[in-house]
Amino acid sequence: KKVVLAYSGGLDTSVILKWLQTTYNAEVVTFTADLGQGEELGPAKEKARLLGIKEENIFMDDLREEFTRDFVFPMFRMNAQYEGCYLLGTSIARPLIAKRQIEIAEKVGADAVSHGATGKGNDQVRFEIAYYALKPDVKVIAPWREWDLTSRTRLIQFAEEHQIPIAKDKRGESPFSVDANLLHSSSEGKVLEEPWDEPPEIVWQRTVSPVDAPDRVTEITIEFERGDAVGINGERLSPAALLTKLNALGKENGIGRLDLVENRFVGMKSRGAYETPGGTILHTAHRAIESITLDREAAHLKDSLMPRYAELIYNGFWFSPERRMLQAMADASQASVTGEVRLKLYKGNTIVTGRRSPNSLYSMKHVTFEEDQGAYDQFDAQGFIKLNALRLRLGAMAGRKGGEL
Ligand code: ARG
Ligand code: SIN
Repeated sequence: KKVVLAYSGGLDTSVILKWLQTTYNAEVVTFTADLGQGEELGPAKEKARLLGIKEENIFMDDLREEFTRDFVFPMFRMNAQYEGCYLLGTSIARPLIAKRQIEIAEKVGADAVSHGATGKGNDQVRFEIAYYALKPDVKVIAPWREWDLTSRTRLIQFAEEHQIPIAKDKRGESPFSVDANLLHSSSEGKVLEEPWDEPPEIVWQRTVSPVDAPDRVTEITIEFERGDAVGINGERLSPAALLTKLNALGKENGIGRLDLVENRFVGMKSRGAYETPGGTILHTAHRAIESITLDREAAHLKDSLMPRYAELIYNGFWFSPERRMLQAMADASQASVTGEVRLKLYKGNTIVTGRRSPNSLYSMKHVTFEEDQGAYDQFDAQGFIKLNALRLRLGAMAGRKGGEL
């Protein structure tokens, strides 16, 4: 039996690796991706070797460009936010990891895949729905739902029994769980579980506190082409390089912190502390460039579908017909979303100060209070208002004043 494991090189997935070898007598193939989590891949490779994985069974990929270009940017075209504020940093990475795992499984002839998500969260759902959508007959092994290493002590004991190296700081209970990639870092659990208690400062790993951010404004412009950011301050950048640069700008200005209680797909509420520095700037800028390039009804239709789209991403349905349909609509809407946005970054704030586009629908000539000309005739407004008010007048005449039911 061959199993492709999503392997981070950390203690938990190393224990999973050994557990797969000993429990299933499986030949384990490890897959480790650089998604911009800010960790070298080298040590994970070393550790896989040390745990007896054959050279040809160790897979390493730098997926930063693909992640940003084919997952993050398409999602940002839709301005997706789950429950009003979560920019979906963890959710959007799972389908890419799953897709690579399945590709590797096909390549090495493995019939099973495995991941290190717990049995209580969203991530198990996202990984596994993606696996099944891409390889319907795949066998899924979810150790956290199967094994009896449910306490930290048992886990450490298993690691010791199997000569798995344990970093000093991993012996004790870690104070919270972290997931990170180029788009965000998320922290959950343990010290964050009481939703009334403020997250301790150590939770925040990729932004300075807005309180400590510089007392001066950083002004930037972001250039967009057909809905995607392509440059900063006139410098053209690849998707991953652009997001990396926005992350640095966001970090030093304390931008993108979020403390949220959200509804997990599996039914429970959970509390998380998220940092999405670059994504927060990008989201604000994208809305600003859309504000002058999208038709009102096009924009409103897109906005009305956004929560549905965000929910699909959150719940793990990236590889689904409904996500593809909404994506096609979002992508089509971006044909004229080209231009630039100027912003001020200041102590946690992202403040739009200007936007311009060769495709702008904004017409100074028509909006000005000075003197109007052309398409708009103020006289038309009278009939427009009266007909819109007609049913309300009829209602009021029938005794239901002010829209009373
Ligand atoms: N609640 C977030 C989500 O479902 C993040 C989950 C992973 N985060 C973590 N710290 N393990 O997308
Ligand atoms: C996990 O349970 O593995 C992380 C949290 C989540 O998936 O929601």
